[in-house]
Amino acid sequence: MAERKSFGEALDAADEQPVARTTAPDLAELWTRRIARRGFLTGVGKAALLASVSPSILSLAACGETPETTPDAIFGFEEVPRGIDGDHHVAADHDAEILIRWGEPLLKDAPDFDVRKQSAAAQLAQFGYNNDYIGFISLPYGSGASDRGLLCVHHEYTNDDLMYPGYPADNPASFYTQDVVEISMAAHGGSIVEVARGDDGKWSIVRDSEYNRRLTPLSTAMTFSGPAAGHPRLRTNEDPTGLHVMGTFNNCAGGITPWGTWLMSEENINFYFMGENADAREAVNHERMGVPGSRSYPWGYFHKRFDISREPREPNRFGWVVEVDPLDPASTPVKRTALGRFKHEGCENTLTKDGRLVVYMGDDQAFEYLYKFVSAAEVSADRAANASLLDEGTLYVARFEEGGSGRWMPLVHGENGIDEANGFSSQADVVVEARRAADILGATPLDRPEDVTPNDATGKVYVALTNSKERKETNGVNPRAGNLWGQIVELTPEGGDHASENFTWTMLVKCGDPMFPAIGAEWHPEAGRNNWFACPDNMAVDQKGRLWVATDQGSGWNAASSSADGLYALATAGEKRGLARRIFRAPVGAEVCGPCFTPDGTTLFLAVQHPGADGTKNFKGFERASTFDDPATRWPDFASDMPPRPSVVVITAKKGGPVGG
Ligand code: FEO
Ligand code: CA
Ligand code: CA
Ligand code: CA
Repeated sequence: MAERKSFGEALDAADEQPVARTTAPDLAELWTRRIARRGFLTGVGKAALLASVSPSILSLAACGETPETTPDAIFGFEEVPRGIDGDHHVAADHDAEILIRWGEPLLKDAPDFDVRKQSAAAQLAQFGYNNDYIGFISLPYGSGASDRGLLCVHHEYTNDDLMYPGYPADNPASFYTQDVVEISMAAHGGSIVEVARGDDGKWSIVRDSEYNRRLTPLSTAMTFSGPAAGHPRLRTNEDPTGLHVMGTFNNCAGGITPWGTWLMSEENINFYFMGENADAREAVNHERMGVPGSRSYPWGYFHKRFDISREPREPNRFGWVVEVDPLDPASTPVKRTALGRFKHEGCENTLTKDGRLVVYMGDDQAFEYLYKFVSAAEVSADRAANASLLDEGTLYVARFEEGGSGRWMPLVHGENGIDEANGFSSQADVVVEARRAADILGATPLDRPEDVTPNDATGKVYVALTNSKERKETNGVNPRAGNLWGQIVELTPEGGDHASENFTWTMLVKCGDPMFPAIGAEWHPEAGRNNWFACPDNMAVDQKGRLWVATDQGSGWNAASSSADGLYALATAGEKRGLARRIFRAPVGAEVCGPCFTPDGTTLFLAVQHPGADGTKNFKGFERASTFDDPATRWPDFASDMPPRPSVVVITAKKGGPVGG
């Protein structure tokens, strides 16, 4: 019998399983014959446009300095050694302080957190669970300030076995009531929280800020826009218009647009749906998205829209990118269907040479694809003029050729087999079933694409392929079978323009322990015991062009590295390209998410997700399932009556100046 996994571990392991596909014909030939290639557009420089829009991106664009060549010049911080224990560890010349924890009051009327008397109403006014993506928007807007701003934080999922006293791990179904389900729903979604740096240099949240907001699947009305808005496949009994939806969930990584809106991804949406599908039209679609999940949250017992025997089209209303305006607390978030429906990991974005927005997006599951969306219109310096920018444009999927070339193939109805004969009647069908449309084009199945991060200064794009244990056949971009460690691929758009349909690619690093040749890891030749990692996930680029990589080994941490997850700086250019150094190590059971710098680089916000949860059976001295009553760690409170709490950490250099030197 299979070993019993906690709910969080079951979710984690599920990403590693590919979903069944019907057919995936290789229509590369069709592509080759495609003649309607667009010419390259030229126009205003990105930096000039962004001067009025986004000081943070501009500041990056302004400093593309070449890294110096000694490790200490590249990494101005002391390395944290490998290891695992119940606490976090930061470089000795840096500080790491807890900024906000699950349950902390955010809104004016929020009650103090009482973990034994939690309610949905309280949770709706408090910081949610499992912080993931973090975005920072300077306040005042457009100021580029690094001492005051809004944090936009995702709450990806809940570890119910660590949230509730007395949770019966061997019979969880017996535990759920409407109240419990709604607490968990209220702990999902996102938080907007104002933060400020005091005269003492310490950051704190502004508890009663007018901007503070929770967005949840229980409480936040949203609308649809773009090709699928109002389409019959988005209509349900609750919403016969197909234009309105309650909330968002499983929000993983994300992005902030140049005009200061927040893009929330919807990732593993299948784990929220139960029941037998009651609509034959959706059978293939649901199978391709893994709906219902192999093990799902029991929300459908109390909210019938999550039961596909009653609402078979409700899953089509999730798996999108949601755009939120954090500067307007009364605004209605919009699901932008033009960006496609799949298991969205993140939405980092940049501009084409002529000033249009490009959103890079991974679909995080084994053998899924890499996408980008290019807007039809240019980003305007007038914020309001960008309100519908994400509704029109082209969604592309990537094909990686052997030898280092690649192409972006447009997912356009009527072209290259994405047509009626294959079950696509309109662009609405294409975006609802983006995965299946991408199958038809012969997109390249990848080793679980997580964050995709452009470096604005160099035009390069970094793709974290986190791992793929199930891979058997290898190729250039997925070079290892049974890949426990992942790799980071570097893309260079043709002509340095993110609008181009061509790119070249090369491997930045193949992760894993460089001391064991059988693993096939590839790092800088100087990489030693502490200069490598496994399972890259979220990333950020800093002003020096260093790539900051957060890892998520899940319950496979022991096999992947035998060390806890962490955050690493990785050189991407110069003689030390491929050399990494750890600045932060997470407590046992946690992954690290959402690295986010203030515009001046002096503060790094970091999300510590699911502490005490994953892989505790391999944690020496503990070696059992972690529960509320018996957790592997009580980080960060270490109070005997408090379970571990996902929290956002603030990292600063002790001597001031940029984080990481
Ligand atoms: Fe939510 Fe792909 O990590
Ligand atoms: Ca995660
Ligand atoms: Ca992730
Ligand atoms: Ca991950």
